[in-house]
Amino acid sequence: MKKLFVILSLVLLPLAGFANEGEVELESANIDLTDHAAMQRGAKYFVNYCQGCHTLKYFRYERMQDFGLTKEQIKENLLFDKTKKLGALMDNNMPSEEAAKWFGTAPPDLTLTARRREGGADWIYTYLKSFYKDESRPFGVNNVVFPNVGMPHVLMELQGVQEAVVETDEHGNKHIKELKLVKPGKLSPEEYDQVAKDLATFLTHVAEPMKLQRQRIGFWVMLFLFVFFVVSFMLKKEYWKDVH
Ligand code: HEC
Repeated sequence: MKKLFVILSLVLLPLAGFANEGEVELESANIDLTDHAAMQRGAKYFVNYCQGCHTLKYFRYERMQDFGLTKEQIKENLLFDKTKKLGALMDNNMPSEEAAKWFGTAPPDLTLTARRREGGADWIYTYLKSFYKDESRPFGVNNVVFPNVGMPHVLMELQGVQEAVVETDEHGNKHIKELKLVKPGKLSPEEYDQVAKDLATFLTHVAEPMKLQRQRIGFWVMLFLFVFFVVSFMLKKEYWKDVH
C-alpha cells in the first residue's frame, strides 16, 4: 500500500510542476496547419527578422516546398547565402560563444520550440506580442511570458512600443494587468497579430512537418484495426462453433 502511494505520487509529481507554471494566460493563436499562405509569410519573416540570431538546425530549405513554394521561390527569396544548396539546413553564422556574451545566453535553435514549450503555437504567439518597455533591461525591453528575456524586441518597428500597466493587489504584490501601446509601429495591432500568428504557424509546422499526415495515417490504422478485429472475431466464432 505504501509502495503504491510512493509510485502514485511519483507519477503525479510532474502534474504538480505544471500547475505552478504558466501563471500568465496565453492568448490563443488559433493557427491552421493547412494554411500554406500563413506558413509562407511566416518563413519570410523568419529569414528576415529571426535567422540572424536563431537557427532551424533540423529543417532544410527545400522542405518549404511542402507548403507550396517552388525551388526557385525558395532560392530567390529565402536563401540569402548563395553558397548554400537547397538541401542545406537553416542555420546561421552567429558564433554561439560570442552570442552568449552579447545576449546573456545564446539564441536557442527554434526547430522544436513549438513542441517543447507548453502551449506551443499559443506560447510563441503570446511571446511575440508581450514585449514591453523596461529601461532596467539591457535592450530596454522585458517580456510578460518570458521575464528578463535576453532577446531584444526585433519586431518593435512593426509593432511599436508597449508599456506595462502595473496593478498592486491587496497583499502589496505588483503584477502586470495589461500592455498598452504607447507608440504605434508601422503596422496596426491587427496586422501585427497576423505577423505573430504567421510566425507561430511556420514554427509549429517546422516542429512537426508530418503532423497532419500522422493524424491521417492514424485514422486509417485505427480503422484497419477495427475491421481486422471484426473479421478475426467472426473467424473465431466460426472455428469454435463445433467445439463443445
Ligand atoms: C538579436 C538576436 C535575436 C533575434 C534577431 C531574434 N531573437 Fe529570439 N531570442 C534571442 C535570444 C538571445 C533568446 C534567448 C533569450 C533568453 O534565454 O533569455 C531568444 C529567445 C527566443 C525564443 C524563446 C525560445 C525558448 O523557448 O526559450 C523564441 C520563441 C524566439 N526567440 C523567437 C524569435 C523570433 C520569432 C524572432 C524573429 C521575429 C527572433 N526570435 C529574433 C535573440 C534573438
